[in-house]
Amino acid sequence: MGKNKLSRFQENETFALLHQPAFADLFRGDFSLKGRWREDFFGNENPITLELGCGRGEYTVELARMCPDKNFIGIDIKGARLWRGAKTATEENMRNVAFVRSKVEVVTSLFAPGEVGEIWITFPDPQPSRARKRLCSPMFLNRYAQILAPQGIVHLKTDSQMLHEYAKATLAANGIAPLQSANNLYATAAAAELAIKTAYENIFISEGYPITYLKFSLPQSKVLVEPEGFAYSGDVPKAKTRQSRAGGRRNFEF
Ligand SMILES: C[S@@+](CC[C@H](N)C(=O)[O-])C[C@H]1O[C@@H](n2cnc3c(N)ncnc32)[C@H](O)[C@@H]1O
Repeated sequence: MGKNKLSRFQENETFALLHQPAFADLFRGDFSLKGRWREDFFGNENPITLELGCGRGEYTVELARMCPDKNFIGIDIKGARLWRGAKTATEENMRNVAFVRSKVEVVTSLFAPGEVGEIWITFPDPQPSRARKRLCSPMFLNRYAQILAPQGIVHLKTDSQMLHEYAKATLAANGIAPLQSANNLYATAAAAELAIKTAYENIFISEGYPITYLKFSLPQSKVLVEPEGFAYSGDVPKAKTRQSRAGGRRNFEF
């Protein structure tokens, strides 16, 4: 392990707003703050917004600056990335931010039914050949529906047209009408909360990829299914960034 990574992991242990529960504990049971985040961690009654696969946590931190009357929690499995967001929020003494180092798969062990008001999924890995691994697949959406309040909102921002089409097909297959959909978000002026840029987003923009956006609610009493026979006919481009994540030439670790 690199020295840089090791020192970040060590510093992570010192951040009171970064929670690092053992995966085995979440797999078997519930996190101690489940159902008690507002009361026991934030000390207020404000609504909770999650950022899933938050990486360095840019959305979490920036939304928290914009909306001091809401609580924000970023979740990612990579500790060296979370370090960036946790350090910024700690240095700025932000009282409405938390981070959790965890797999998104166990999100129902972290939050109680109805505990979450909104979810942001920012630039998730498109997983071209593993639909179930996509953070917007029905398996994940069914888990989000369990923790979202009635009429809770999901926002999906991605550079991947394939993933955008897949998410739309998933909603259509399950009779859900999107609240908003754009296959080139910045072609028109975007609301301030949509214009926040993550580290990955900046790279995709610099490589010329249009950014897509989807906003939707999830039904609470229906089990969502995969869109039957979904096939994407457009290109799935091999951006430099994506090649690197597949083990290619560019180092894209943060
Ligand atoms: C392409 S990066 C995007 C990071 C950040 N949202 C951004 O836009 O810069 C995808 C992130 O999702 C995280 N991730 C992917 N699958 C995950 C999972 N099942 N549970 C937790 N994190 C996951 C990865 O660790 C990675 O940091």
